[in-house]
Order: sequence, then C-alpha cells, then structure tokens
Amino acid sequence: MAKKNDDFFLEKKPWSVVKDEILGCYFKPYVSKILHTYKPLVYVDCFAGKGKFEDGNRGSPLIALEIIDQCRASTTMQQAQINATFIDLNYADDLRRNLGSYPWVKIVSGKYEDNIKTILRGKENCNIFLYIDPYGIKALQCSLFDEFAQGHFNSIELLINLNSFGFIREACHALGTTFDDTTLFADLVEYEPTRMDASEKSISELNEIAGGDYWKPIIVAYKKGEIDGYDAEALFAEKYCMRLRKSYKYVLNMPLRIKKGQRPKYRLIHATNHRDGCLLMVDNICNRWEALQEIQSGGQMQLWAENFDNQAVDEDDIEEKTILHFSQYNCLTSLHDALAMFFMNYGPICSTGYVKKILKGLEEDKRLLVLRNPDYTSRGKKTAFMTEGKGQKISVRWIR
Ligand SMILES: C[S@@+](CC[C@H](N)C(=O)[O-])C[C@H]1O[C@@H](n2cnc3c(N)ncnc32)[C@H](O)[C@@H]1O
Repeated sequence: MAKKNDDFFLEKKPWSVVKDEILGCYFKPYVSKILHTYKPLVYVDCFAGKGKFEDGNRGSPLIALEIIDQCRASTTMQQAQINATFIDLNYADDLRRNLGSYPWVKIVSGKYEDNIKTILRGKENCNIFLYIDPYGIKALQCSLFDEFAQGHFNSIELLINLNSFGFIREACHALGTTFDDTTLFADLVEYEPTRMDASEKSISELNEIAGGDYWKPIIVAYKKGEIDGYDAEALFAEKYCMRLRKSYKYVLNMPLRIKKGQRPKYRLIHATNHRDGCLLMVDNICNRWEALQEIQSGGQMQLWAENFDNQAVDEDDIEEKTILHFSQYNCLTSLHDALAMFFMNYGPICSTGYVKKILKGLEEDKRLLVLRNPDYTSRGKKTAFMTEGKGQKISVRWIR
C-alpha cells in the first residue's frame, strides 16, 4: 500500500528495526577492523532520512554515528580518520537538527544520484562504506555501483536495501502483466512506490536499475504461469546478485521478513571486494539471527534453530555442502578465500565458525590438508588456529 512520505518517520516499524539491527551490528566490527588499515573511513548514508523517528527511535544516521563514537573511544590508534556524509532529498533540515551534536559530519540536501560522485571524488585512498536505503527502486542505478567498484578506493562496501517485490511488480507492468498480490503489498507499506507502464522508457529504466535485461525472461515465465510471483522475486534477487558480482567479488543476499514464516519483503544486499568483509557479514547475520527472530516472532520461543532464510538448520546438510565445496580445492588455497566462496555458493547458511569446526574434523580425519603459518608457537607447540589475519595465514587443500 502506498503511503504518504511523512508517515515513514512517525514511528519506527519492525522492518526498519531489522534493517538497522543488521547495519548496526555489522558496522561496529567493520569500523574497528577498517581503522587498522590506517586509511581514512568515508561513510555515506545515501538516503539518510531524518536521523531520528518522531517516536524517539534512532534512525540509521544516529545508529552509525554512535558506533563511530564508540569505536573512536575504544581504539588505541592516535588518529582515527573518519568522515561521514548524510544525503537526503527532503529532510536535510531535520538531519541538521537531529545530528546537531555531531558538528563534524556533512549533510547534503539533494539526490544521492546527483551528489555521490562528487562526495567520493579524491577519496581514492580511503575505505568507503555506502548505506543505500531508498524508499523505492528508481534511484538504484546499477551503472553507478559498477563505477564505484572501479574507483581505486582502498576498499568499498555497499549495503543496499532492495525492494525486489517492487521491482517485480513494475517489471510486470512494463511487460503488460500484473503482480498485485494484495496481501503482500498491503503488508509491504511502500513509501513513494515507483510506477512504471508498458513503455520503452519504463523498460530502459528497469534495465538501468537491474544492470541488464535478464529480468525479462523471469517476467515472461511468470506471465506464462510457469512460476509464481514469489519464485519470480527470488529468481530476480539471485540474478541481481550475480549481476553485481561482475563488479564486486562477494555479494550476499539477505531476505528480510517482517513476520516470521512470511515470504521476504525486502532484500538487503551486501557487496564488497573484500573477502573478510563478506565473512564478517556472514557472522553478523548468523550471530544476530536470534535477535532478528525475536523481532520477527514478537518474542515467541523458538523450538528449533533456523537460519537467515527461516529454514531449519540441517547439520548434515551443512557438512555435506562443506565437503562438496572444499573437495574442489586441489591446490593450496587461502582458507578465508575458500570460505568466502562457500558463502557465495550457499548464502549465509551458518556462521564461519561452524564451517571451520567441520573443517577441523576433516583435518583430523586427514581428508583436508591445513597448512598454518606460523606452524609452531614461540614455545614450540604446533599451532591449531583457524582464522587468518594478524600475522596468521592458513592454506587448505583437499586430500580425499
Ligand atoms: C527509507 S528512508 C531512509 C530511512 C533511514 N535509512 C533511517 O533508517 O532512518 C528513504 C529516504 O530517502 C529520501 N530520498 C528519496 N529520494 C531520494 C534521492 N533520490 N536521494 C536521496 N534521498 C532521497 C527520502 O526523503 C527518505 O528520507
């Protein structure tokens, strides 16, 4: 159901709580880690909103700024260089008011798509984090995401809130069919929904958003009744991530449900060229899953463990997938590289620690060769770590 724009900030709705939970919980370890690159961090909230909801809840800008404050306070580094920019087309004044205690931040009144290149100009040496949380899909030009990836930054990460159902609905309109599931769209409560029609202009706008026309066969299959609208959405989200992977090596797709057991309403997409950023997001999703379930289930008890996709966790299945994936590595490969590819193939189905535990078992059974550097501790004991970084390296190779 389309709503008036201003309503969005009256009270913070459950889906905003879930989104912010993921942003906040990822952003904290991200900032702590990224400061150790000794390169500046440039944080841009591209659709920042008002900063605060009318009910007093913090919006994404205040959540990010409080985390930056905490990280600054706890780092031992002399000068943590962090700059933060908040863009909003409608609420720059509210942002100035609500972020008044952060005089060092930059507030931009205008459109993300008109300002972002200027903001990123001259930041080649920096770590860039873009939080992209628009109402609709119109401003999500894929060509901009491609350009960012070419930007020669020290690193770049995008966290995108993709209204994939909104895309499918408009793609249906553009190809002369409809997907107007009233229950779904009543629950979705869209603000400023994008409206397309059966015209060439709409088709080229959708191509620009999707970064290609791969969405068309999906809608054609839906039109023919070969798949339903939910399959179409899931297929589109999968293909969208594959398209982003042309520019970003690691792309994770996290379905957001408003109520437990429901179909996803939105997708949060995390894109990075940094394998450790991808692994950090996997653990963030898995570790925060309980909190997210609390929000989704209104605090009801869970009888069994479920993963990010509300699927029951099947331990045998994860073990099978681990063996299938790691048995491909006939040459020595970095453990973290191989792990990140595991989650690219299967999604964030479990924590990195869970897969590492299975790998340890495979090492003990002499099915997986694990080479550690350093291989001995200073006291002459064989090392057994399973995490790379801070002077530790691990290579793995499948034996049998
Ligand atoms: C979903 S809200 C953002 C909510 C925010 N992330 C939070 O947690 O409080 C989207 C915001 O994008 C703004 N907006 C709409 N079109 C825009 C554009 N092209 N560029 C930048 N901001 C835009 C709207 O005014 C609105 O405040």
